[in-house]
Amino acid sequence: MDLKVVEHYDEMSEVAANLVAGTIKDKKDAVLGLATGSTPEGMYARMVEMYRRKLIDFSTVTTFNLDEYIGLEPDHPQSYHYYMNRNLFDHVNIDPENISIPYSGSDKGLEETCRKFDERIEQAGGIDLQVLGIGVNGHIGFNEPARHLKAGTHLVELAEETIEANSRFFQSKDEVPRKAITMGMGSIMKAGKVLLMASGINKAEAVRDSLSGLVSTKTPASLLQLHRDIVIVIDREAASLL
Ligand code: F6R
Repeated sequence: MDLKVVEHYDEMSEVAANLVAGTIKDKKDAVLGLATGSTPEGMYARMVEMYRRKLIDFSTVTTFNLDEYIGLEPDHPQSYHYYMNRNLFDHVNIDPENISIPYSGSDKGLEETCRKFDERIEQAGGIDLQVLGIGVNGHIGFNEPARHLKAGTHLVELAEETIEANSRFFQSKDEVPRKAITMGMGSIMKAGKVLLMASGINKAEAVRDSLSGLVSTKTPASLLQLHRDIVIVIDREAASLL
């Protein structure tokens, strides 16, 4: 495990963007697993800047996003489709054919959607680098704390803490979707490399529980301790309970 504690959010974003850029430079047809939320915004901004300066090329890169709310259309400003377009895809030369974000307008026919999503990851040869943020409750993707975690892409009921935390992006808590579709722990753990980022004091407990040496489905990110190639980039506040 490679743990990098940096001063602040900007430095975390810089280190993370350089790592992603290095992956794309080493392997032109790299397969990236991508996260949304506030944590990777700075990293995406730097990746866009690197593309503008012709330092990286996305033309043969493939991406899979971790998750999406159920019930938000792709053009909804709080959907993760919209987020990815606004933060990255609209600004770089990625081929839209190479972008996959789980989507299901409702929970009908979801099993088939999930199966196809996992098949697509397999067909792409698996994920080379999986970018992750962490929830205040230790979730990764939308793999919420539970007695059992699922390996494949699946439907999930969001935990109360997640609804509460994500309500900051909506007008009110009532507007936060209660369900989502998320990549499972299997595709995440099978990624060649994992990059976990965390910033801020509100992530300190989740970071501590994830790196404690104990592995528990109550803290899904703690399973990452079993991954053979993980880089953790966190700022001082997020690292304050280690
Ligand atoms: C989003 C995702 C989530 C977030 C986590 C932290 O695609 O996978 O696990 O990474 O909820 O969100 P922020 O970064 O907004 O604190």
